[in-house]
Formats: sequence, C-alpha cells, structure tokens
Amino acid sequence: MNTADSQAAKLSENDSPPHNEGARSDAARAALEGALSATAAQVEAALDALLPRPAGLHGRAQEAMRYAIFAGGKRLRPFLVLQSAGLFGVAPGHAMRVAAAIEALHTYSLVHDDLPAMDDDDLRRGKPTAHKQFDEATAILAGDGLLTLAFELLADPATHPSGDIRAELVASLARAAGSDGMIGGQMIDIEAPNHQLGAAQIIELQQKKTGALFEFSCAAGAILGGAGASDRAALHAYARDFGLAFQICDDLIDVLGSAETAGKQVGKDAAQGKATLVSIWGVEHARSEAERLAEQASSALAPYGQAAHLLRALPFFLLDRRS
Ligand code: IPE
Ligand code: IPE
Ligand code: MG
Ligand code: MG
Ligand code: MG
Repeated sequence: MNTADSQAAKLSENDSPPHNEGARSDAARAALEGALSATAAQVEAALDALLPRPAGLHGRAQEAMRYAIFAGGKRLRPFLVLQSAGLFGVAPGHAMRVAAAIEALHTYSLVHDDLPAMDDDDLRRGKPTAHKQFDEATAILAGDGLLTLAFELLADPATHPSGDIRAELVASLARAAGSDGMIGGQMIDIEAPNHQLGAAQIIELQQKKTGALFEFSCAAGAILGGAGASDRAALHAYARDFGLAFQICDDLIDVLGSAETAGKQVGKDAAQGKATLVSIWGVEHARSEAERLAEQASSALAPYGQAAHLLRALPFFLLDRRS
C-alpha cells in the first residue's frame, strides 16, 4: 500500500480516537486565540526586519514581496514552527528565522497559485492579489523572490550555529516545497479536472499541495532541537492529520463560505472542476472526517502534556474557521 492508500484505509476505519476534552475546551480556545494573535504580531515584526527594503529599479519586486506578505494571513505555519521548537528548548531567535522562512515560502505559493495561469484569483487575504495590485511579471518575480529568500534565511548562520542543522533545514524545506511536495501537489491539482481521482489520489494531492509545508513546519522544531526519532514521528503524525483536516476545511470554505469573511474568492473549486474530498464525499462526510482527523492529530501529541497544549487545541480551532 502506498502512503495515500494507507491514509485512505485509515480514513475509512471506524475506530473512534480518544477524546481530547481539554484541547477542545473554551479555555484552550481562548488561550490559543491569544497566542495566535501574539505570534502573528511577532512574526510580522520579524518579517519586516528580514524582508529587503525596496530600493532602486528592482525595488518594485521587493515592494510586491512586502505587499503579499503583509496583506494579512493567519501565520499558521510560523505558529507551528515556534510551538514545535518550544517542545525542544530551541532558542526563540533561531525558531523565529525559520518561522519567517516558511511564511515567505508559503506566501510565494499563494502569489503563484493566484496567477491567471493557475487559479486566476483577484482576491487574497482580503486584498487584491499581487498580480492585480502590480502586474503579472512583477507577481511572478515577487513569488520567486520570496521563495529564494526562504532558503537564504535558513542557510544564514544566524538561524543556527550548526552547519549540519542548517543544511537539514534547507534540504527538508526543499523537499517539502519541491516537485514531490507542494509543487507536485499543485501539478496534480491542475491535472485533476482531466481525470477521475479517487479518495486516495485526492489525499495524495492534498498531502503534497498543503500537507508538505505543514509537515516541514512541525519537523523544523525537532530539527532545530536535535530531537530523536520518536519525537519526529509524533510531530509527523500530528502534521499529517492536521494538514489533511486543514485542507478539507479550506475546501469546505470554498463550498460554504463567503469571499467577505474568507478574504478570497469562493466557489472556485467546483467552477474549475477541482478534485476535493468535499466534492466526492459531500459536506457532511467531509466535515466528520476533518473532525476525526483533528482528534487524531491532537492525540498524537498527548505524550507532551501541557507543553503541547496550544498545538493540541489548534486542529479543533481550525475546524470552525471561516477564513
Ligand atoms: C491557504 O493557506 C492556502 C492553502 C494551503 C489552502 P492559509 O489558509 O494558511 O492562508 P493564509 O496564510 O492564512 O492567508
Ligand atoms: C493552494 O490551494 C495551495 C498552495 C498555494 C500550495 P488552493 O488553491 O485551494 O488555495 P486557496 O483556496 O486559493 O487559498
Ligand atoms: Mg490552487
Ligand atoms: Mg487557489
Ligand atoms: Mg482552496
């Protein structure tokens, strides 16, 4: 069985994972909301310091990089980096540079995802997309600039004194973002309307398109902290289920949400013939699978107790998200 098949088999199992009462409580939600907004502010300050200041004739691309980054966004991937790093006593300054790197790379993926040749969207993070605000060529270059910046940040000795750890971060992010990761998922996404994809193939699409960057974000804390195999496996299990639940919710927002609250156009997946678990399973089944995956993700970090309480609450919080 390949990974996607075994994930599909898992999805159809009728086992009920342990309930994570504490992680779903109102108190956990309030703590998480506070932590998410505090983290977003810190990450934005770090990004402001790390992104180039527009200057000279090439400054237009740098302006567009800043525009796309500071248009908004939940900063979830940075949050995962910082929280996973917190489990292993990583210096916050080191973790913050990796958090900035993944947000730069994620934002590049959005800028390119919105281009006319891809999803052709006008609205992102509640604002005109980069190619609307600037022009297509500038948006392509701004995306390239953000992608490249991510690796520059990771490779810099300020990210970690160990060259081996920096090399592992660079290689892991390259794999997650590359043609067997996010780029691969985007390719399957574009190919999907010409094929009849089953659940296993859609899960593979989503693990690559969305899951891979979440997996990197959670692995980053373990890499920075020199964590061992069992810690890495626990974070990987969490990220895999979290990522899938997250993309199911993104697809539900596309069906049920509004552009006003989502900050991006909705109804696009059906219009463009995109394959999603919502399209093959229907809203109710997709929602209950997202719920089950959130339980499973949260349970994977139960051994960390209080140290992981925000990570354990996050999947439940995202089930109700509207943006
Ligand atoms: C949107 O990601 C793209 C997907 C992977 C579905 P987010 O929902 O994390 O977008 P921002 O960063 O908050 O704008
Ligand atoms: C985009 O997926 C995923 C990446 C950018 C890698 P979607 O196309 O579903 O994301 P939205 O809905 O435009 O945010
Ligand atoms: Mg897309
Ligand atoms: Mg899109
Ligand atoms: Mg979407």
